[in-house]
Amino acid sequence: MHKLHFHPARNWMNDPNGLCQLEGWYHMFFQYNPNGNQWGDIHWGHARSRDLFDWEELPIALTPDGAQGEEHCFSGSCCKDADGKPHFFYTSIGREEDGRGVQHGAQQWTASPDDPGLIHLTQTSAQALTADVHRGISIRDWRDPYVIRDGRQYLMVTGGCVDERGCILLYTSSDLRSWNFKRILVQSEIADGIPWECPNLALVDGKAVLFYSPCAEVRYLVGKLDGKLHFIKSNEGVLDAGVKRSFYAPQCFRDDEGRTLMFGWMAESAPEAYLTAQGWNGCMTLPRRMTIIDGDLWCLPVDGWQTYAGQPQALTVRQGQQLTVEASQHFILRINNIDPTNCPFIRLMSAPDGTDGALLMLTAKDNEITMRLMNSIGSPDELRAYEPAMRTVPLKDGKADLFLCVDGTAVECCVNGHWLSGRVYPRHPNATRLTIQCSQHARRPKPIEAELFVLK
Ligand code: FRU
Repeated sequence: MHKLHFHPARNWMNDPNGLCQLEGWYHMFFQYNPNGNQWGDIHWGHARSRDLFDWEELPIALTPDGAQGEEHCFSGSCCKDADGKPHFFYTSIGREEDGRGVQHGAQQWTASPDDPGLIHLTQTSAQALTADVHRGISIRDWRDPYVIRDGRQYLMVTGGCVDERGCILLYTSSDLRSWNFKRILVQSEIADGIPWECPNLALVDGKAVLFYSPCAEVRYLVGKLDGKLHFIKSNEGVLDAGVKRSFYAPQCFRDDEGRTLMFGWMAESAPEAYLTAQGWNGCMTLPRRMTIIDGDLWCLPVDGWQTYAGQPQALTVRQGQQLTVEASQHFILRINNIDPTNCPFIRLMSAPDGTDGALLMLTAKDNEITMRLMNSIGSPDELRAYEPAMRTVPLKDGKADLFLCVDGTAVECCVNGHWLSGRVYPRHPNATRLTIQCSQHARRPKPIEAELFVLK
C-alpha cells in the first residue's frame, strides 16, 4: 500500500522548507532531527518526487556548520533567479553565549547546491543578513526567510515580533545578495508577545497572498502590493482549521506548470510511547493548489493521487439510509454537489462493532456548510488524538464539494477549497470500515453520490 503523505523513515520532522521544482523533480526539504524523534539538532532533510505523491527520501541536505558556531538550520525557502538557478535562504541559529541565540541572535543565511540534484547544500555565511539591516528596530524571534522573484526584483519576507506584536517584515533585492529592509508589512493588532512564524508571499491570480503561522491556526490575507510595496488587504481567513498543529508552517512555491502549490506540516498528537514505537514523528500534508475564487483564497486538492488508487467505487446513499463498506485505513472519498438539505455524516476507520476511528459531520445552514471532525465514541482515551475541530465554509452556487483523504493517521478534509486536518490513531487493525449516512431529512432530497478510491 502506497502512502500519499510523506514522512522521513525515522525521527522528528517539522516545517517544509526550500520547496521547488527543478529538472522535473519536485524537491521538498524539511526541518529534521537526525538524532531523535523529538524536536532538536535541526538539519534540513530532503525528499524528491516526480509527481508530488511518491516521495523518495534522500540524505540530509544541510547540516549546521559547527565551525561557524551554527547549532540549527531553521526554516527557509528556495528562490530561482531569472536564469532558473536555485538559491536557498534559511535562518541560522547559534549559541546563546555567542549572541546567536534564537530570540535575539538569529541571522538569515544563504546556501547553495553543490550539485544539480540538490543532494548537498553548503551555507555561505558571508552573505548573512543580520539584525542591523533593520536600522534600530528591535525584533525578537526573527526568522524564516521566504523569497520570491517579482519581475526584475526579489522580495523577501521574514517573521518575528516587534513591540510584543507578531509581524511580517519585507525586504527587496535586485541580485539576491544585498537586501534593503523596506518595512513591517503587516503586524498583529494585539500585543500578546507571540511571534509570527514562516510567512509566505505569493502572487496568485492577480492578487498578493500572505500567510503566516502565529503559533496557532495558520492565517492568510488576500490583497495587493501597491507601487510602494504596501500591502492592501481585501480578504482574510484561516488556511486550515485543524487543531493541535495538525496543520502548521505551510510553504508554497510555483511549479513549472505555473501552479502555486502548498504543503504543510502535520504534527502528531499521540503519546510519546506510541511515537517511539512508530519511529517517526510528523508528516507532510497532500499538495494543495492555491487559487482565487470570488476574491477569496481557495486551496484545491491536486490530481495525481489516482495513480496510487484502485478503480473508483460509486456509492449511493438514499434518504434515511446508511451504507457501510470496507475502505481500509487509506482512501480518498469525493462527494461532489452536496445538496445542503442532505448532508452526509461519515464514520471513518471504524471497527466492526462501530467503535474506533473518527466522525466527519457536515451540516448546512443559511448558505454555509459546517464540517466537524472528532474521534468516535469508543476510541481509546490514550489515543484521543484531537479536540473536535470545526470549520464553516460558504456554499458555492448553493452547493458544496467534499474531498476527504484518510491516509493512516493523517486525515485531511476539504470543502469548497477550505480545509480541516486532523490526526486519528485507530487502535484496532481492523478499524477499516467507512459508513456514510444521510444526516438531514428534506422532503425529497437527492441521494448522496460518493466516489471511493481505496489506495493500492
Ligand atoms: C515553525 C518553526 C519555525 C522555525 C522552525 C524550527 O514550526 O518554529 O519558525 O524556523 O520551526 O524548527
